[in-house]
Amino acid sequence: MSDTSHARLLIIDFGSQVTQLIARRLRELKVYCEIHPFQTMTMDAVRKIAPKAIILSGGPDSVTRDGSPRIPQEVFEYGVPILGICYGQQMMMVQLGGKVESGHGTAEFGRAFVSSRNKLGILDGWFAAGDEQVWMSHGDHVSEVAPGFQVYGTSPNAPFAITADISRDFYAVQFHPEVHHTPSGAKFLANFVQLAGFTGDWTMSAYREEMIAKIRAQVGEKRVICGLSGGVDSSVAAMLIHEAIGEQLTCVFVDHGLLRENEAEEVIGMFSENYNIQLIHADESKLFLEELDGQSDPETKRKIIGKLFIDVFQKHADTIEGAEFLAQGTLYPDVIESVSFSGGPSVTIKSHHNVGGLPEKMGLKLVEPLRELFKDEVRQLGHELGLPKSFIGRHPFPGPGLAIRCPGKITTNKLDILRKADAVYIDQIRKHNLYDEIWQAFVAILPVRTVGVMGDGRTYDYACALRAVTSVDGMTADYYPFSHEFLSETATRIINEVKGINRVTYDITSKPPGTIEWE
Ligand code: XMP
Repeated sequence: MSDTSHARLLIIDFGSQVTQLIARRLRELKVYCEIHPFQTMTMDAVRKIAPKAIILSGGPDSVTRDGSPRIPQEVFEYGVPILGICYGQQMMMVQLGGKVESGHGTAEFGRAFVSSRNKLGILDGWFAAGDEQVWMSHGDHVSEVAPGFQVYGTSPNAPFAITADISRDFYAVQFHPEVHHTPSGAKFLANFVQLAGFTGDWTMSAYREEMIAKIRAQVGEKRVICGLSGGVDSSVAAMLIHEAIGEQLTCVFVDHGLLRENEAEEVIGMFSENYNIQLIHADESKLFLEELDGQSDPETKRKIIGKLFIDVFQKHADTIEGAEFLAQGTLYPDVIESVSFSGGPSVTIKSHHNVGGLPEKMGLKLVEPLRELFKDEVRQLGHELGLPKSFIGRHPFPGPGLAIRCPGKITTNKLDILRKADAVYIDQIRKHNLYDEIWQAFVAILPVRTVGVMGDGRTYDYACALRAVTSVDGMTADYYPFSHEFLSETATRIINEVKGINRVTYDITSKPPGTIEWE
């Protein structure tokens, strides 16, 4: 839990796929909120968080099942406004004396329309043009509201779509106000937080000031080291820490030889020329490429890179006297403990490599100034700190770099070809003003050579795949629908300008079932 001085809203998570969206919508309203899994929410834990209001999320379970999740009954006596959404509504009803039933053909999935029954403060702005579209996703339904509750809205299959006990400031709704398919959902949440007394004090400039004071208090006179990758998160973390403690910060940029064209120069140039941050440029490309020589298994490659990264970082960190802290660009989605109903560990799809393995090994204390922020808030903070727009808007780039865009064995020749093709592709995307519409775009060089014909001669060169996706958080993604003109112009440019490639394909796999990177 954070020790922020802002008024807090507590979201108790029952495992809905869209719980994070509740937090997103609230942050957009400048309300500070935290998500906690229901399993950890004892009454003591709730008191410690001291929320000004509570939201109970949706979830996949059925309240009619014995042993399904509940919250401590005392939470309802705590005296703050409570909003229950979907499973949260049904749980409130059951815990407060109402009834919920399964089946009877009253499930609703997707779009539904709610009609108004009575006027209600948190419905201010609703029903101006008739029924309101909402998004539903429920199998069970409330069959009897708890004593004290009244109905304020109904849908064809949810006679208790909107219910409230105004005397206790309890609100319970069957639909999901947090999703885009409930167009007036943001207004609904805005009304709820206003009623709960939030003043919208969660701003980036307030956050910046607060964090700078915290970093100073945490670090004192000691030194901090920070692994800088050139990505938005580590760059913003470094800038913020630098603003707080100046020369007590040293950044280490590890060049593993798997960077994109001009990447090292751009990152080093930006930080050393514009910001006067102490920066060690560790060019260790030879070491990484030697260790990767002959390896083609994706997990082996990732593990080699992860381990070497730690070794190299450690080697340079050892040269910084008095370093007691390690800075990391950990974000809020990495911190949220997700609700696992199976209780088992999830399958490893890929071993993600970042500097997460470092602290245990190095015995350093962590400074994580972004751990309360979502990605777009980090971008706002970067803007606030004066990072150039071009830098803030950069597409994500994975820690293992081009290694995972070069399926099969990695050679310097393939990496050179890949860098050139990638540069042409990104140039095309920028020229067509598509860069900001796309979440991530890159080229992968394929481990096959194919036959072609150029000028009257035969060619036998590599094939490559272009990848471009739209996404919100990288967890799911869709391929970007380029026009045929764009694709053919880009393919022509790559084949003409990049020696070594004679065939270009476009990857149209979404995630799932694919992943964004090729390995
Ligand atoms: P996948 O390929 O898993 O990628 O769909 C999702 C997002 O994560 C990035 N990615 C990584 N980032 N270290 C990172 O810092 C990694 O090991 C890593 N692997 C994938 C990927 O580029 C995409 O943005």
